[in-house]
Amino acid sequence: MKKCFSNRIINKIIPLCVAALLPLSQVSAQTKTDDAKMNAFVSGLMGKMTVDEKIGQLNLVTVGAATTGSVVNKGVEDKIKKGAIGGVFGIWGADHVKEVQDLAVKNSRLHIPLIFGLDVIHGHRTIFPIPLGMSAVWDMGLIKQSAQIAAKEATAEGLNWVYSPMVDIARDARWGRISEGSGEDPWYGGQVAKAMVQGYQGSSMKNADAVMACVKHFALYGGAEAGREYNTVDMSRIRMYQDYLPPYKAALDAGAGSFMSSFNTVDGVPASANKWLLTDLLRKQWGFKGFVVSDYTAVNEMEAHGLGDLQMVSALALKAGLDMDMVGEGFLTTLKKSLAEGKVTNQEIDLACRRVLEAKYKLGLFDNPYKSIDPSRAKEVLTPENRAAARNISKHSFVLLKNDAQTLPLKKTASIALVGPLADNHRDMLGTWVIAGEWEKSVSILEGIKNVAGSNVTINYAKGANITEDSLFIKRLNFGPGMVSVDAKPADELLKEAVDAAKKSDVIVAVVGESQSMSGESSSRSDIDIPESQKSMLKELAKLGKPLVIVLFNGRPLTLTWEDKHASAILDVWAPGTEAGNAIADVLFGDYNPAGKITATFPRSVGQIPIYYNHKNTGRPYDGKGPSKFKSNYLDISNDPLYPFGYGLSYTTFGYSDVKLSKTSLKGNETLTASVNVTNTGKYAGEEVVQLYISDPVASISRSVKELKNFKKINLQPGEQKEVSFTITPEELKFYNSQLKYDWEAGKFIIQIGTNSANTRDASVQWDK
Ligand code: NOJ
Repeated sequence: MKKCFSNRIINKIIPLCVAALLPLSQVSAQTKTDDAKMNAFVSGLMGKMTVDEKIGQLNLVTVGAATTGSVVNKGVEDKIKKGAIGGVFGIWGADHVKEVQDLAVKNSRLHIPLIFGLDVIHGHRTIFPIPLGMSAVWDMGLIKQSAQIAAKEATAEGLNWVYSPMVDIARDARWGRISEGSGEDPWYGGQVAKAMVQGYQGSSMKNADAVMACVKHFALYGGAEAGREYNTVDMSRIRMYQDYLPPYKAALDAGAGSFMSSFNTVDGVPASANKWLLTDLLRKQWGFKGFVVSDYTAVNEMEAHGLGDLQMVSALALKAGLDMDMVGEGFLTTLKKSLAEGKVTNQEIDLACRRVLEAKYKLGLFDNPYKSIDPSRAKEVLTPENRAAARNISKHSFVLLKNDAQTLPLKKTASIALVGPLADNHRDMLGTWVIAGEWEKSVSILEGIKNVAGSNVTINYAKGANITEDSLFIKRLNFGPGMVSVDAKPADELLKEAVDAAKKSDVIVAVVGESQSMSGESSSRSDIDIPESQKSMLKELAKLGKPLVIVLFNGRPLTLTWEDKHASAILDVWAPGTEAGNAIADVLFGDYNPAGKITATFPRSVGQIPIYYNHKNTGRPYDGKGPSKFKSNYLDISNDPLYPFGYGLSYTTFGYSDVKLSKTSLKGNETLTASVNVTNTGKYAGEEVVQLYISDPVASISRSVKELKNFKKINLQPGEQKEVSFTITPEELKFYNSQLKYDWEAGKFIIQIGTNSANTRDASVQWDK
């Protein structure tokens, strides 16, 4: 036979093909055999381990590059040699990781390999849009691809574990970490979670280009009161099960190997010591088989939560089902004492140790501790292909919030005033959570416009304003060196330069919004307007009466009522990543027609928060018409958001027909087909995200006014029409009732299909048991 595959490839392909051909019973028999082999191996190893070595496996340390707290570990080298460390995070690079792995594999008594983690959140070296932007693509293939590339790059630099996906539902734009999740919808969040886990872990975590995912932050972290970071979370079980837990469960079902506990309390007990959460729900109800790591010093922080001293909280955490302690070393320094005093048991230590060793086994680290440490793979990062993928994904994430009189797309011969602190800027292109990404290698918007429009475009550039003029705010934003640089020129001089540039030009493109450190961890804001310095610039520019295009950078929904009224067009680009400028220029000049849709509601004012589309009706709903006294509304503002969940425009327009139903009355497990015809009624080819929502107007509990159940993204040429159909089964009608039973109740349902959560065509069905 002619040799057309290398042995390495054949070894990979054969088991995959065999698995694909095997009937399910044989696949599960295979899983049982694999599990039995793993158990035998881990039991054999644990039989040789001392208690200290077992506790050592539960200790995760950082060596500094990724610090998100006030503590950094000391004496790491000695501890690794003693077997007192199970994993390390904060380093990357094949040589560097190898050096540290050598300490464990060559110098510790039992040669147990370390697991190497990192916050690879929206890309490793090639940076993709921040997760909130990524979620706006509504294309699971692209989302999965971003995770695959991140895994490939991370493994090329020696890593095997990533602290992603973050699947926390967030309904409060003040919370800076809304930027790191997929918005407010539990079902959609679950789809993204699944795609990310599949992208990271691939067909087997043993593969050289796969990493183990770590689902975070378990649980409910996005429910922080008042949107203030690390604040208390308190919610009913129904809300938890219905609205907040589904994405964690979806990630688990996709096979995620690890979970990270959250900083907050759940039902009054901090998540890291919450037995109901970590054992009863996660393991017993949901069947999770992997390990749980704490967040950064979250065990120690339970002292501040008021649960006892370090020994006490460490014991509580272990007993609750927490397996690995990140950075704080409470497990390392107190568990042995607790064992001697009968406060924890050998079985509890063994169980946690077993889960950590199993993770290493599943990653193939016992077969080859250096499996992803291969200096020849250094060329696999930031490749032209990866950058091309990033450019493509970024442009799919942009959301056109407004486009009066078809201001966009611009002509490649236009004379453009390019202004704003983010226009000629590399630093802020990448967004929050970029550990190994290099901002110097990003494409600025000024560069992108030149790359895409070539020499016929005229660019009159002026910075126009600083990110902010507020010195205390600048100090807080600059938690890392040089994060926000402030121009020494006085504000009015900067402004005059922008106005002069605008006067010379046909159209103004103002690149404004939030800089990198204005969202993400520990970046809550009480005012979510575009900062004053930039807004003043916009106000002056608007007075000129020229078309004003806002290119908006933001890690959260912002309050944009003034901008919505006065700008001609608003293109929301979040923080797009390495290829920012190129992707933005692709869209500004119409080489790509934007199709992103927001996954978190944009409020009109901070006073409306929390605001989300799947709210309850209340007993006194206000329909926005007629007298409002004694209704659920505000005296000074409408209830409606500025931009609803699922919203986003296109350079073209789409027409929707009425909803056609295959039946209007159904019984039991029958299936319903609901369809619409969607027509491209404009001049450009374009993509549309067709969304399916269902309402359940009468039930044993008060239900959300509507819930997203499915979507399809279609591509239409001008004038083209497509039928879009959704299959609906009783599964889509289910909800958690007062007994937390997940079931559906007979009655009327309203099937809604449309372009966003507030603009749908509706039809109703009667569905009986
Ligand atoms: C704290 C953050 O909450 C978490 O998301 C992150 O993974 C860890 N620090 C490690 O950097």
